[in-house]
Amino acid sequence: MSQTSTGSSPDILDSFRLDGRVAIVTGASEGIGRALSLGLAAAGADVVVCSRDKSKLEGLVAEIGALGRRAEAYSIDLSHVDQIEGLREFVRDRFGGLHILVNGAAYTIEALAWDTTEPEWNKSLDTSLKGTFFACTILGQLMRDAGYGKIINLSSTFARSTIPTRSVYSAIKAAISHLTESLAVEWGPEGIRVNSLAPTAVRTPSRAEYLAKFEDDVVKRIPLGRIAETDDLLAAAVYLASPASDFVTGHTLFVDGGFVANG
Ligand SMILES: NC(=O)c1ccc[n+]([C@@H]2O[C@H](COP(=O)([O-])OP(=O)(O)OC[C@H]3O[C@@H](n4cnc5c(N)ncnc54)[C@H](OP(=O)(O)O)[C@@H]3O)[C@@H](O)[C@H]2O)c1
Repeated sequence: MSQTSTGSSPDILDSFRLDGRVAIVTGASEGIGRALSLGLAAAGADVVVCSRDKSKLEGLVAEIGALGRRAEAYSIDLSHVDQIEGLREFVRDRFGGLHILVNGAAYTIEALAWDTTEPEWNKSLDTSLKGTFFACTILGQLMRDAGYGKIINLSSTFARSTIPTRSVYSAIKAAISHLTESLAVEWGPEGIRVNSLAPTAVRTPSRAEYLAKFEDDVVKRIPLGRIAETDDLLAAAVYLASPASDFVTGHTLFVDGGFVANG
């Protein structure tokens, strides 16, 4: 696998290809994770698609297969570390290694801080932060073995700004972006690149209710004048997954229509 600069190669577009690469995408059953699974496959990767409910992944496996790539569905609750170890062994046995990990799974609390309960806090932290951390360390072992890997953590514009009802979510996303920097520093010498992808509001099933109420307000804060569609994230994800970004690590890439720049 390429680990070096693509330099002034006339084949610059080839450096975005993912042929021969194996990817894991968590949170693949819907929304962003689903779209990114298809995007990575379209760029050439074989993809292990993960969520708790395997039945929700069957259609996606078929769609990836229709693109000529190999796909496997894997049922996992990321809040259980032993299940992440099971996924590592599954991928080692079936694919022999791992090049790309997209940590997309999350559980989002939408509640005022006063109203947030301990069970909701635990569920959110366990899924979104603990799950991401141990996915990185446990699945990253396959990358360490090969001396090369690309990790993409789903952060958010809420890593840098916030609104009422998103205190826990914003804290988690700020932590994800900073965790990304920490792992990039530790793992750079081992060839593992760790970056975050940070969208503004994206039209996904879990955000349907929120956007039905607040889409107009959100759009007013976005200089490019609309919220994101999942397809807006594909090129950025392929870039971060591919050799084209081999000298990029510890970065949070905002795909946000200018939301963060707007303060
Ligand atoms: N949508 C947005 O506006 C937006 C904006 C910025 C950032 N993001 C981030 O982008 C990512 C994807 O967002 P999204 O809106 O598409 O989806 P989401 O609602 O945040 O996540 C849903 C996905 O996570 C999986 N999941 C939930 N709990 C899990 C667990 N314990 N173990 C394993 N999988 C679990 C779900 O599958 P199962 O139910 O089958 O397990 C589903 O595939 C998240 O990290 C989110 O915070 C989203």
